[in-house]
Amino acid sequence: MNRPRKVHVKSFGCQMNVYDSHRMADTLAPEGYVETQLPAEADLIILNTCHIREKAVDKVYSEIGRMRELKDQAELEGRRMLIAVAGCVAQAEGEEIVRRTDSVDVVVGSQNYHKLPGLIARALDGEKIVDTEFPLEDKFDALAQPSPQAIGKRGISAFVTVQEGCDKFCTFCVVPYTRGAEISRPVAKVLADVERLAANGVREISLIGQNVNAYHGVDGNGDAMTLGALMRRIAKVPGIARLRYMTSHPRDMLSPVCDDLIAAHGDLPELMPYVHLPVQAGSDRILAAMNRKHTRKEYMTAIARLRKARPDIAFTSDFIVGFPGETEADFRETLALAEDINFVMAYTFSYSSRPGTPAAKLEDQVPNAEKHERLLRLQAVIDRQWKAFNASFADKTMEILVEKPGKLTGQLVGRSPYLQSVHVMAEPSLIGQIVPVRITDIGTNTLFGERTAPARAPALASLGA
Ligand code: SAH
Ligand code: SF4
Ligand code: F3S
Repeated sequence: MNRPRKVHVKSFGCQMNVYDSHRMADTLAPEGYVETQLPAEADLIILNTCHIREKAVDKVYSEIGRMRELKDQAELEGRRMLIAVAGCVAQAEGEEIVRRTDSVDVVVGSQNYHKLPGLIARALDGEKIVDTEFPLEDKFDALAQPSPQAIGKRGISAFVTVQEGCDKFCTFCVVPYTRGAEISRPVAKVLADVERLAANGVREISLIGQNVNAYHGVDGNGDAMTLGALMRRIAKVPGIARLRYMTSHPRDMLSPVCDDLIAAHGDLPELMPYVHLPVQAGSDRILAAMNRKHTRKEYMTAIARLRKARPDIAFTSDFIVGFPGETEADFRETLALAEDINFVMAYTFSYSSRPGTPAAKLEDQVPNAEKHERLLRLQAVIDRQWKAFNASFADKTMEILVEKPGKLTGQLVGRSPYLQSVHVMAEPSLIGQIVPVRITDIGTNTLFGERTAPARAPALASLGA
């Protein structure tokens, strides 16, 4: 009998990219491919790439170089190894990848993963494949459900894609070009995923999409459902204890479409008080040049509305420093906004010019040294806020969703409502449960705690039984 074929999938991008990596492995499982973490032993290596910043693209090309060495080595050993490039670089560069490197066998765009088995078979016959079509009518296929085998591996917490693509065209961003137009999955498909995940022990669902709060998937009557309504529906699935969503756009958060999502933060206990709302910049001039289509004040309004619904929400964000034309005064507005909102975590990026985007054509590019200096200053603010946030939980009791055994014997690792990793000594039977934990120590990236006695149930008599 042939040995099972092995596939190594490496992700370079956002949570959607990671999700797609799982999906590609799932698509190949029925073809007899098992996943391996070791690229050297793989028969097929898939590099699932990211195009968002120049550095991300450079990384891909140097990784292709490394994989080529493995491929040559495999050939010397008489083994055939295929290299596939998927994801947003594949989508954006297409043929160019095959021209630049002779070791890549398959280039597959973000909406064609369901075709992988066929494409791989053709590549094994010696064909060089480039498939980066955007087959709109196929899109729901491309967003197919994970296979049942794959679901078993998901653990306690799982991602479910509900929305893909983007129509917003921020002037710095490649996503509308690499992921195509915005589209929402129908409610029934999302629910079917969630139900299967829940039946396999998943307790926490993160709904993901490039603009997840623009969700408008159709329900059984053909009407559009909002993300808030979808959350309420998913919360009813037996077993589901926690809900999250990312990434949201501030402009959608301000529109009536999100009224119910904001309200759900107030009255849906499953919805976690941790919201990622990228702001990018604090200056109105720069926000306008970025085509974010909201002002600083409007962003503050969105935050205030969410805080009104649920005062203990913690916010995280994305920032770009050094957008073309950003002055020191503009940047100070970004710093001040970060302090005003008190973000507890943020992804901070130096602006990276992306060919084909409108901002790449702007004259007034900020020198690299200046971008770097601003990045460090912003990171210092966020870092201080993040440490203060973590420190604020000393001696407090938090609800921890226990996910897995820790490194030490008898130790379990779970997540707080704010996604902090929490270590606690407790019996493994608690995996998958939410337990109250008193925080005793604050580490750099981890909180440590001990189990507190569960609140005693009121005596029957006091219930008037
Ligand atoms: N849809 C989300 C973000 C998706 S991209 C939103 O609108 O907020 C993830 C992050 O990458 C962005 O929030 C932005 O901060 C960063 N990013 C995108 N393009 C970039 C570029 N050209 N240079 C630097 N950072 C960029
Ligand atoms: Fe990119 Fe803007 Fe779309 Fe986000 S909203 S994916 S930053 S174009
Ligand atoms: Fe990168 Fe594509 Fe995600 S460009 S950030 S992998 S949508």
